[in-house]
Amino acid sequence: MSREPPMNLPPTAASNRFEHVPLTVFPSSAEASRAVAGEIAALIRARQAAKRTVVLGLATGSTPQQLYAELVRMHREEGLSFANVVTFNLDEYFPIQPSALRSYRHFMQVNLFDHIDIVPANTHVPDGTLPISSLDAFCREYEEKIQAAGGIDIQILGIGRTGHIGFNEPGSPRRSRTRMVTLDSLTRRDASGDFGGEENTPRHAVTMGVRTILEARRVILMAWGQHKAEIVREAVEGPVTPQITASFLQEHDNVHFVVDMAA
Ligand code: F6R
Repeated sequence: MSREPPMNLPPTAASNRFEHVPLTVFPSSAEASRAVAGEIAALIRARQAAKRTVVLGLATGSTPQQLYAELVRMHREEGLSFANVVTFNLDEYFPIQPSALRSYRHFMQVNLFDHIDIVPANTHVPDGTLPISSLDAFCREYEEKIQAAGGIDIQILGIGRTGHIGFNEPGSPRRSRTRMVTLDSLTRRDASGDFGGEENTPRHAVTMGVRTILEARRVILMAWGQHKAEIVREAVEGPVTPQITASFLQEHDNVHFVVDMAA
C-alpha cells in the first residue's frame, strides 16, 4: 500500500500536560485553516496519484468557512482538483428545504461545492425534507453509503458550546449512529440569529452519530474564539462523558484539535 503523505499539523510541545488529545494552538484561525487545508490537499493529491478516491466528512457553521475558502483558492490558483473526492456532511436541520438560505446544503453549495470541480452526485448532506416515516431508512442508507464509499478518511468537526460534535447533543451515547435528534436550547439560541429569532429556529436535526464520527480514520476538530475556550478545555482535559460528546474523541487514536489563541 502506498503511504499517505505526512500530516502537516505538528503535535504541541510544552502545553499539553493536561490534554488527552493532540492539540495545536495557531496564532490565528486563518493560519490554522490553511494548515488543515494543506493536509486535506496533500491527501487528495496523493490519492489522485494512486487513482483512488478520498472521502471527506464535512462540517458547516462559522468554524470551517476559512478552510473552505482556502480549498477554493487552492482549486483556482493551484489547480487542486476535487474530481476524486466524495463528501458526507455531518448534519442538516429538520425540517428544512435544501434551497433554504439557512440549510446546510445551501451553505455547502455557497461556501464550497459551487466553486470546485466536485461531482455533484459525490456530495452528500442529510435530507431535511423527508417525512418522519422514511427517516429511519434514510439514516440507515446514509451509514451504508459512507461504508460503500470506503469510510471517511478525514472528518472535519467544529464544536458547539454544549460540547456537541455534529448535532450530538449532551446525552448522545457513544454508540449512536445517524438519526434525528432534538437540538439543545443553547444550540438553538446560538443559531437563532441566523433564523431571525428562536421561534423560527428548527427544533430538530438529522446528524451522524458519535460512533459514525469515531469510525473516521482521521478526525480534525477546529475551534476559534474565546467563547469556545471553556468547552474545548472540558473536551480535552475532562472526563469522557456523553454530557460532552466531543470528549469521546479522547478515545480516537488519530484525532487532532486545532485551535486559535483565543480558544
Ligand atoms: C455543523 C456542526 C456543528 C458545528 C458547531 C459549531 O455542521 O456539526 O457541530 O460545528 O455547532 O458551530 P460554529 O462553527 O458555527 O461555531
